[in-house]
Amino acid sequence: MTMNATRLLRRSRAEAASSGSPSGAAAGAHRPDPGPPPGVRVRDLTVVYKTPLGELPAVGGVSLTIAPGTITGIVGESGSGKSTLALSLLNAVQPPGRIAGGSVEVDGLGDVLRLGGDELRHARGRHLGYVFQAAQNSLNPLKTVGKQVLDLGRSHGVDDLPALVRDARGLLERMGLDGARVLDSHQHELSGGMRQRVGIMLALVLNARLAILDEPTTALDMITQATILRIVREVHKERGLTTLMITHDIGVAAEVTDRLAVMYGGRVVEHGPTMDVLGAPAHPYTQGLIRAIPRLSGDPTQARALPGRPPTLGTLPARGCVFRERCPLRMEVCETTEPPRVAVEEKTVACHAVAARREEHA
Ligand SMILES: Nc1ncnc2c1ncn2[C@@H]1O[C@H](COP(=O)(O)OP(=O)(O)O)[C@@H](O)[C@H]1O
Ligand code: SF4
Ligand SMILES: [Mg+2]
Repeated sequence: MTMNATRLLRRSRAEAASSGSPSGAAAGAHRPDPGPPPGVRVRDLTVVYKTPLGELPAVGGVSLTIAPGTITGIVGESGSGKSTLALSLLNAVQPPGRIAGGSVEVDGLGDVLRLGGDELRHARGRHLGYVFQAAQNSLNPLKTVGKQVLDLGRSHGVDDLPALVRDARGLLERMGLDGARVLDSHQHELSGGMRQRVGIMLALVLNARLAILDEPTTALDMITQATILRIVREVHKERGLTTLMITHDIGVAAEVTDRLAVMYGGRVVEHGPTMDVLGAPAHPYTQGLIRAIPRLSGDPTQARALPGRPPTLGTLPARGCVFRERCPLRMEVCETTEPPRVAVEEKTVACHAVAARREEHA
């Protein structure tokens, strides 16, 4: 570690000892006016992976509008394309994957898919804060957490590095950690849950206005998970963020999100206010998902798992509705034609049966 880094971290430790209370929580002193929370508009996004069967879509023509200032959840079974969608918002899909089409407009940044090189590197961190799935393995094992915060600040041209370190410490303390000690630690000295929280701190510390959290609480026990979710909500509100929370756990989504997008086979099948999606699900898949969860279905004796298994890239039908193999409402048109997106009150639902029902009532 350089002398400068050691001095900065030591100062942060001394301040922690003298103040005894979390600091820097309200945030981003090192970055004066980061602006309002951004809206995001994903249009016709298709992402393919190269497989022995050719290039197959993990995200197939997704359109999704994320309102500024909301916490939007993305839920769906494993393999439904959630992480691939999250990576696309950062233009970070790696081979054998490739973004094959569409756009991702973020207010203040433009189409992220058109950014490259330094522009993209700056956007990540400064505008787009992210915790990748398995963030607990993404720390540099050779450097202390504090050194990694300083590296991050330097690579993004942060002038006030002491303020950045204070902010990092404050965020860690809010998440129930000894901030100064964690900044002084290497990855191997931290538990899985601690690393997860370090990941969240690194996503937020540059004061990005769009936070993308991919399964941020998966490695945590129930109590730590509840704490983290509370803090995500608080920080979201205090800092005026737009937050995207990706999870396979509907309970987590129900607890923190304002809006919910349900993914299946690389499509968003239902999207709208969380209360409406969970309280009055319209898509047969969302209905099945909720019936399978005793706590949400209301009647534990009636809870039953969805029949069949989710598709893989290889078993995904090339045409028609990707859910039809498991759908009780399947019709002929579902075999051949991609379901239309229809408005159901405040929600958007992609389903032929829902569209037909609407026409009957029109
Ligand atoms: N690097 C990769 N190579 C090939 N297929 C991949 C790769 N990453 C993901 N996939 C496939 O893409 C689909 C979506 O995966 P992913 O986005 O990780 O879903 P989720 O996050 O919802 O579990 C899955 O079928 C998965 O097997
Ligand atoms: S489009 Fe057809 S198969 Fe797909 S969910 Fe709707 S009714 Fe079922
Ligand atoms: Mg994932």
